[in-house]
Amino acid sequence: MNTQARPGRPRSAVEALPAYRPGRDAKQAQQEHGVVDAVKLASNENPEGPISAVENSVLSAVRGANRYADHRGGELRSRIGEWLDISADHITIGNGSVGLLQQIFLTYLDPGDEVIFGWRSFEVYPIYSQLTGAEMVRVPLLDDLTYDVDGTIAALTPATKVVMLATPNNPTGTVLSHDDIARIATAAGEEVIVVIDEAYREFVDAGTPDPVADIVPQFRNVLVTRTLSKAHGLAGLRVGYAVGDPEVIADIDKVAVPFHVNAAAQAAAIAAIDNIEEIEARCAVIVNERGRVEAQLSEMGWWMPVHQANFVYLSTGSETMRFATELEKRGVVVRPFDGEGIRVTIGSPTENDRFLAAITELGVTK
Ligand SMILES: Cc1ncc(COP(=O)(O)O)c(C=O)c1O
Repeated sequence: MNTQARPGRPRSAVEALPAYRPGRDAKQAQQEHGVVDAVKLASNENPEGPISAVENSVLSAVRGANRYADHRGGELRSRIGEWLDISADHITIGNGSVGLLQQIFLTYLDPGDEVIFGWRSFEVYPIYSQLTGAEMVRVPLLDDLTYDVDGTIAALTPATKVVMLATPNNPTGTVLSHDDIARIATAAGEEVIVVIDEAYREFVDAGTPDPVADIVPQFRNVLVTRTLSKAHGLAGLRVGYAVGDPEVIADIDKVAVPFHVNAAAQAAAIAAIDNIEEIEARCAVIVNERGRVEAQLSEMGWWMPVHQANFVYLSTGSETMRFATELEKRGVVVRPFDGEGIRVTIGSPTENDRFLAAITELGVTK
């Protein structure tokens, strides 16, 4: 006999939780708008398939799939350590960097604790905050869509346990300077974990200081998270890593799901790192394409933030959903943020041309 709407009684935090909405895919757009060969520029993915060394390593890892993977990812962690010139006890790996972010929230945030982040930023920050029952303190971005560093520092209270800094920020692509990060980490103090979420690190301007070299050794309360999903093109395999103080690393490791980074993903990550020049060359193409897309958009009259990731952001305001739908009708799927703007991933040159042709037809909104 069914007496309730559904079985079970989810925790109230889960009941109130919005589901994570991944970017729409090309197939959905094709079905809804009757277009053919739509392109997906909605999830900041790499347009290129895996390099051949990655493909080969995944195939050989699959042959051993009857065995559990190395839970601690020993080989991968030491390979990352050699690559970044830091000892392996400063490093852990995760099921994508979202997996690591979830571990960080679960490690540090009890109900009522405060977590500070700029807004708008990455959508999982509010989801994980709600999941843990933490109080979100959202500091609005400044008019130029950069982080409000003074506002972030002013928001610190004795209840603050975590500060999230996405640099480059998603969806605006802006970066925080070394000095701004150091100011925030100093103001936060050792009892507050400051997370530098660098999912798009590989697309920033050459010469940008590396927090693994400059910030982590100075601040024991700073954790850097990165991913192999974007630059390295492994989004479907799920590998991220975090770099920080060995004691912080040991704490966040406690809440990892056993064997969370599967054997194929670990092997793929090692192959990608072993062939990093090939990956870097691909990133250079994307950065170059970003410049081309930005130049054409500015020529059309669009204002844009100074972005340094693999996407561009257009402040379409109240016209956002109309722009997203009209682009989809022209076979280009982008990520809208209702009432704010659209984020468009830099794809292959052909995909970028599709986007530029479609947006040219739509014109500019301010
Ligand atoms: C700012 C930011 N952090 C982390 C991630 C997570 O990436 P992944 O879980 O694929 O490593 C993303 C992905 O879109 C992101 O935009």
